[in-house]
Amino acid sequence: MASQETEVSALIDTLRDSLPQKGSDGSYNREQLKDVAERLSIALETPGETCQRVTYYPLRTTIVRIATRLNILNILIDSNGPISGKELSHKVGADHLLLIRLMRFLVAMHVVGEAGVDSYVATTITRHLTIPKLEAGTKHTYDIVCMAAKQLDPFLAKTGYKNPNDPKHCAFQDAFHTEENLFEWFPKHPEYLNNFNLYMTGQRDGRANWIDFFPLEEQLAKGFEGGDDAVMLVDIGGARGHEVENIKNRYPHLPGRFILQDLPETVKQALPVKGMEAMEHDFFTPQPIKGARAYYLRNIMHDWPDSKCQQILSQTKAAMKPGYSKIILNELVLPDKGMSLTAAQLDITMMTVLAATERTER
Ligand SMILES: C[S@@+](CC[C@H](N)C(=O)[O-])C[C@H]1O[C@@H](n2cnc3c(N)ncnc32)[C@H](O)[C@@H]1O
Repeated sequence: MASQETEVSALIDTLRDSLPQKGSDGSYNREQLKDVAERLSIALETPGETCQRVTYYPLRTTIVRIATRLNILNILIDSNGPISGKELSHKVGADHLLLIRLMRFLVAMHVVGEAGVDSYVATTITRHLTIPKLEAGTKHTYDIVCMAAKQLDPFLAKTGYKNPNDPKHCAFQDAFHTEENLFEWFPKHPEYLNNFNLYMTGQRDGRANWIDFFPLEEQLAKGFEGGDDAVMLVDIGGARGHEVENIKNRYPHLPGRFILQDLPETVKQALPVKGMEAMEHDFFTPQPIKGARAYYLRNIMHDWPDSKCQQILSQTKAAMKPGYSKIILNELVLPDKGMSLTAAQLDITMMTVLAATERTER
């Protein structure tokens, strides 16, 4: 095992070497730099700091959730300059002393900046967290995922450490005292459903978008049979239709109908996308749109255990025209080793709230 000093100096060398390596677009390899910087920060830790890092995360999510509930971050953005703790405490209706304590934590997390003693400013991170679809993500993660995650340890212990595979029997039900699965429960809790649906539009932000690398025209437009009445694509479980919107913006000339399918409460919130037809459909029942060119499912398989995925795919298969229709699955593919924390978090999230799973290629 390398000494801490050797490890740190090797990482500093890697950082120095990585900086001049620019991609074809002239920018740094952001992910590589981030990875080395993070490993450097970890290599510099004392044992006590390691303990702090791995155990105190729930406080971070909690403080950010309180800040979003009090609208602190948006007020900082709108103030266009420093704002005093006193003024901020009046605006949000919290004790000045309480506000100071919350702000200390937000400053320490670099979520907000300090302009002086008890004076605060927005930073780049404040801006990241106030992008509406990502703000919805901070709410959904705290309100649903973190509450269920608190029950994961007792749930796994009581079920004898079996891999969860029943969406009606996972940590979510213990946390929310319900027998329904998450998607049955959501429509009765519109505030949570709205946050979830908004978050889904931003959940892949910062990652490659499939329409930038998938040869969609080559694969779908070429060989498309029929005129404007024929269906080009059905987005199954497409939430509010943000993926259809992306395709339409990118390929406005594609012929045929584009159909969004989801559960009734979500279809009611469908985006006003020109040329998109929104349709209520439960994907465990027979697919009513027969012979479409493509059936697209993004982040659907990861919501369900294998047996349920087979049901969804069987219903889709029965509607397909042999030799013509295609199924497009857009899912995260886990590596066999060298997992990123982002991917591992998503996998355990799926286990916690739906007894579901991210999958490797195998
Ligand atoms: C993880 S979200 C993915 C949304 C969208 N495809 C995306 O990638 O942003 C799962 C979607 O499946 C929908 N869903 C859940 N159960 C369903 C069912 N039985 N029939 C149809 N849609 C369902 C949810 O309402 C939700 O919009």
